[in-house]
Amino acid sequence: MSSPVTPALAIRDLVSWFETPWGTVRAVDHVSLSVAPGRSLGIVGESGSGKTQTFYSVLGLTRGAPGVIAGSARIASVELLDGLDQYVERTVDADGRAVVTKSPTWQPVHEARVKTVVGRDVAILFQDPRRSLIPYWTIGRHLQEVLSRQPQERSVANGWREVALARLAELGFSQTQRVLNSYPEQLSGGEAQRAMLAITMAMHPSVLIADEPTTGLDTINQSRALESIAYQHQSLHMALILISHDLGVVDAMVENVIVMYAGRVVASAPATILRELPDDRLHPYALELRVSRDRRSRNATLTAGEGGAPAPRATTGCAFRHRCTLRPRLPESVRSRCDGEAPPLRALESSYTVACWGIES
Ligand SMILES: Nc1ncnc2c1ncn2[C@@H]1O[C@H](COP(=O)(O)OP(=O)(O)OP(=O)(O)O)[C@@H](O)[C@H]1O
Ligand SMILES: [Mg+2]
Repeated sequence: MSSPVTPALAIRDLVSWFETPWGTVRAVDHVSLSVAPGRSLGIVGESGSGKTQTFYSVLGLTRGAPGVIAGSARIASVELLDGLDQYVERTVDADGRAVVTKSPTWQPVHEARVKTVVGRDVAILFQDPRRSLIPYWTIGRHLQEVLSRQPQERSVANGWREVALARLAELGFSQTQRVLNSYPEQLSGGEAQRAMLAITMAMHPSVLIADEPTTGLDTINQSRALESIAYQHQSLHMALILISHDLGVVDAMVENVIVMYAGRVVASAPATILRELPDDRLHPYALELRVSRDRRSRNATLTAGEGGAPAPRATTGCAFRHRCTLRPRLPESVRSRCDGEAPPLRALESSYTVACWGIES
């Protein structure tokens, strides 16, 4: 029997909630996922389903209102969250009003742990590349900074410039010298995205988290960016987590897919199984994504509401029930279950888990 492989990244029971003046936003609600070294995982779900926040809360990139971050997240065997259950501090001000603030002790401990893994063990390709590039640094300066921290690259006889030009060429740039000397704002969106990918790849991360890497790109640049990611993923034996609202993008690139809805994982399966499962075995939201992908691939017009209508969030019961196409066909006893209790994830087949009361075991 082969020994189990230690995941490159493993998240267990992650909770990330925000306290806002409008109430608690359960951005990530008990999410578990993992990716083995060199393997690939896709995260799909509409806008606001918690895809980005899952990784931002693990890596300390969350901004704004304090809330709750709890659970476990392990990258390269470093536990980032465990034992840090004091993220929020609740105090009372002089007028007796409750005040919620980020714990002054939680953040530095978390940041110190994150620092030990960011870059070498994990890197994020952000949704908007220009936001993560320093505007007054050329692409060359960015690459130099990253390459100078790589012992294997420093030993290259030609110096960082030749290595940087080679990295840009690998990413499909023909005018590598121009790109090297350009500031981020001098590049088009597609060029900036690929330059960011070259910089991220130069870090040689064990896990790459690519967050909507094709958003805002035209079709040609979309395929270029995806091809570059696939090439780097395979040639560097790097684990890939690909986040997208589009099942079509994820499906063609990854081995396993997780479908998120309203902060929760509602289905998880190998991409092949997700493609082939009969409609009545698929989570109704995953089915919506699959139908939408198939229509798009046939170039048909999308009907209103498809592809990311805001999710009406139920506070009790199944969050998807207001949109569920399966619901009208369910017996009253099952429907009342959907209203009363959020369905837990359960294994329907050895590698397919689903959270739906309406699908029979
Ligand atoms: N700092 C914050 N304060 C309050 N709510 C937040 C904050 N950051 C995110 N959220 C909320 O958390 C939820 C999940 O956000 P997240 O960015 O993870 O969505 P997403 O699935 O990545 O969406 P998209 O496809 O649009 O990128 C959303 O409802 C969002 O409004
Ligand atoms: Mg996002």
